[in-house]
Amino acid sequence: METLHTLLEHRTIRKYKRKPVEKKKMDNIYNAAFRASTTGGMQVYSILKTEDPEMKKALHEIHFKQPMLLEAPVTLTFLADFNRFNKWCEQRQATPCYDNFMSFMTAAIDALIAAQNACVAAEDQGLGICYIGTVTYQAKKLIELFELPKGVVPVACITIGYPDETPPKTDRLPMNAMVHHEKYRDYSPGMINEAYQEKENLPESAQFIKENNLETLAQVFTNVRYPKKMNVDFSKLFLDVLHEQGFMNHDMEEGS
Ligand SMILES: Cc1cc2nc3c(=O)[nH]c(=O)nc-3n(C[C@H](O)[C@H](O)[C@H](O)COP(=O)(O)O)c2cc1C
Repeated sequence: METLHTLLEHRTIRKYKRKPVEKKKMDNIYNAAFRASTTGGMQVYSILKTEDPEMKKALHEIHFKQPMLLEAPVTLTFLADFNRFNKWCEQRQATPCYDNFMSFMTAAIDALIAAQNACVAAEDQGLGICYIGTVTYQAKKLIELFELPKGVVPVACITIGYPDETPPKTDRLPMNAMVHHEKYRDYSPGMINEAYQEKENLPESAQFIKENNLETLAQVFTNVRYPKKMNVDFSKLFLDVLHEQGFMNHDMEEGS
């Protein structure tokens, strides 16, 4: 399929056929991921494939029992990974200096760019994908399950398989609201109204508001879907993970 067409036709797939993904297609997905740009050509990420039924059950539990984890034939977890690069440095008389937050960001950015390439390659071959956002909430549990060493943190997860549904395309904000020209043009109240008008007028938006006994769609996000306490609690957990995995050593004395 033409790649631009694939990109413009994207929709998340949450129901999958019980059909395995052919090795050739998986290899294309990996190679597309590996072909992505990476910081300094370092490729500081890894991909962890889950297919084994027992491991799938464990992942299902960890990812808040989201059904895609059991149904999809394949799950890929993308890992920010400085472990391999650090070991290479040590074996080549170079002192690794990647035990800091910026190095985590570097590795996470590499991993995320590779993940999106993998998604496009999957969709281009007639497969469907779903990102699984609980990967960052549950990073600590995934580190235990996958036995990840220091320098490795899961940052993205996707389920892959043959689609067993054809959901409609979901809404997007208008181009005008998303793109700035030369300098950032801050949003007036009128521009905010315009940007969110279409989203707010969708029938499912009215449904969400009613179901949750709220007044606005924005409140569905702030009060129900992504509330403050949840964000703060998961932030603390993730920062602990970064400490434990050795990415928060900012002491020049110790780090140098
Ligand atoms: C980082 C990220 C995490 C996501 N996590 C989940 C998830 O845990 N469960 C889920 O069903 N969908 C998840 N999604 C899918 C989004 O809900 C979906 O992309 C969004 O609603 C837009 O729909 P579309 O992809 O069909 O256009 C995630 C998407 C992203 C990019």
